[in-house]
Amino acid sequence: MDMDRPAPLVLKDMILHASQLGLAMPHQTIDAELAKDLASAGALAPSAGNDQPWKLLLHGGRLFLYHEAERSYSVLDPERMIPHIALGMFIENVLQRAGASGAQLEVHLAADVGPGPIAWFERVEGTPRPESCQWSDQLATRHTNRNPALGTELPSGTIAALQKALATTKDTRLLVVQDRDVLTRLGSISGAVEQIRFFDRQGHAEFFEREVRWTASEASRTRDGLDVRTLGLPLVGQWALRLAAKPWVMDLMRWSGSRALERPTADAVRTAAAVVLVTVPKLDLPGRLMAGRAAQRVWLQATAMGVSVHPVSAAIFLGHLAELPPPSVLGDAETRKCRELLQELRSLFNAQEQQPAFMMKLTLAGATEVRSLRLPIEDILCTSDEG
Ligand SMILES: Cc1cc2nc3c(=O)[nH]c(=O)nc-3n(C[C@H](O)[C@H](O)[C@H](O)COP(=O)(O)O)c2cc1C
Repeated sequence: MDMDRPAPLVLKDMILHASQLGLAMPHQTIDAELAKDLASAGALAPSAGNDQPWKLLLHGGRLFLYHEAERSYSVLDPERMIPHIALGMFIENVLQRAGASGAQLEVHLAADVGPGPIAWFERVEGTPRPESCQWSDQLATRHTNRNPALGTELPSGTIAALQKALATTKDTRLLVVQDRDVLTRLGSISGAVEQIRFFDRQGHAEFFEREVRWTASEASRTRDGLDVRTLGLPLVGQWALRLAAKPWVMDLMRWSGSRALERPTADAVRTAAAVVLVTVPKLDLPGRLMAGRAAQRVWLQATAMGVSVHPVSAAIFLGHLAELPPPSVLGDAETRKCRELLQELRSLFNAQEQQPAFMMKLTLAGATEVRSLRLPIEDILCTSDEG
C-alpha cells in the first residue's frame, strides 16, 4: 500500500527550495517567538484524519509553509486535493493569529504544486484588516463535532452570518441546503460514497490501519489520527467499527450486498439542520487553498455562534478522483458511481458552474468530551541558521 509514499521533508531541502525563490531581504522580519506563536495557531486547523500535513520553516525572516506529504499520503487522493484544503485552513489560522497580535502579514501562494513551499508569510507595514483577526478567539475552540443532532433549528441569522464570513475570501461561494428532502438525498449520496471508500481495500486499510486511534493511550502517544472517542459513536457503534476493521468482515459485507456502512453518514446528513458547500471556480492549487481558507472562516464563524460542524466531504473527494483521466484507482463500477453522485450533488446545490471543494454538516449537537490532539510544535516548525 505504501510503496509510493513520499519520504518526510528534510530541512536542508526545505532551505534550498526557500532560497531558490530568490526573495530579497524583507523590510520587517518574523522572529522566532512570533513564528512559534503562529505555528501553534496554524496547527489548531482541522485536517483529514487529523493527519496535520503541514511543516513550517523560518528562514531569512519569512515563514515558509510546506506540505508534509508523507503524513497525508493517500492512494485515493493522487492530486493531493485533501491536504491542500487543510493547508488553506492552516493559512487562515496563521493570518488570524497574526492579526490578533497586531502583526500585519502578507501571504504568497505558490501557483503550482512542486517541491518548494506551498505558501510563505511575510511581515509588512500597517495594521491588520478587521476580518484578518475577527475569528482569532475561535481558533482554539473550533473542533469537529460528530455527535447526533439535538434538533433541526439553527440560531436565527446563522446562514447570513456564514455567508458574510465567506464573502471576505475572493472567488469563493457558499451554497446551502436546508430542505429536508434534499438533505435526505444528500445523506444517501454521502453514505453511498463512504461505503465505496470502506469497500475499497486501500481505502479500508488507510482508514482502519493508519487513521483510527483505538485507545486513549494510542491517541496521546501519536498525537495525530482519529481518536475513536471523537467519532460520536455509541458503545455499540464502536464495537461495530472494530468489526468493520477486519478485512474478512468487509469481504462478507461486499459479497452479501450489505448497505450497513452507508447508514451512519446517511443518517448524520439527513438529520442535519443544514449542509453547506464551499465552491471555487477552479480546483488548482490556489483554488484549493482559497477554498480551505473560506471553509475555515465559515467554521470559525459557526463556532462563534455555538453551531456544531462536521465535515462530510467524501462524495466530493472521491467524485473528483473519479473525474480524473483513467486509469482510476477505484474499480470501473465505483468510478462511474462516484462520478454520477458528484454530478447529482452539484445539481442539488445548483453548482454546475462551480467546483465543489468542501462540504460541512451543521447542527446543534451535544458537547464533545474528547478533543483531537496535535503534534508537538518541534515536529512542525523548523528554523534555518539565519532565521
Ligand atoms: C480536508 C478535510 C476533510 C475532512 N473530512 C472528514 C470526513 O470526511 N469525515 C469526518 O468525520 N471528518 C472529516 N474531517 C475532520 C477531521 O477529521 C478533523 O478536523 C480532525 O480529526 C481534527 O479534529 P478537530 O477538527 O476536532 O480539530 C475533515 C477535515 C478536513 C480538513
